[in-house]
Amino acid sequence: MIIGFGCDHAGLELKKELMEYLASKGHECIDYSPLKEGEKSDYPIAGRAVGEAVAAGEVEKGVLVCGTGIGISLTANKVPGVRAAVCSEPFSARMSVCHNDANIIAVGARVIGVELAKMIVDEFFSAGFEGGRHQTRVDMIKATEDNYSKYSF
Ligand code: RB5
Repeated sequence: MIIGFGCDHAGLELKKELMEYLASKGHECIDYSPLKEGEKSDYPIAGRAVGEAVAAGEVEKGVLVCGTGIGISLTANKVPGVRAAVCSEPFSARMSVCHNDANIIAVGARVIGVELAKMIVDEFFSAGFEGGRHQTRVDMIKATEDNYSKYSF
């Protein structure tokens, strides 16, 4: 799978670990925030870049890392078509795909450690959307989004 990665300064180390980990499993990993050590970057920059890449189909899914995973996922979720889930344990990561068809996983580098983050991405990337009644609900998310788009009247 082609996966887009993004982070702010707080998420830099964990993002690198997760990129290496997922690349070792055969995924193609594209870095949308190649920060240098000590460089600062505001989380909305990466949240928007990866959100737009996912929405445009440039990458299939995304991984975002900031201090908590919150700010970066909030930003990504402003991009129409993005369903970013911030998760701190594997069960929610799996369910975010099975029931919510999440296309971005966000984690907090100040919240969880590297090994737990690896378990979380393992669940996220091995899960599949179940469709059926869950499709109806995802369609309702989309309808909510459409209701607030500039094209609504
Ligand atoms: C940066 O200090 C921190 O605010 C950011 O990484 C993130 O946790 C915001 O949601």
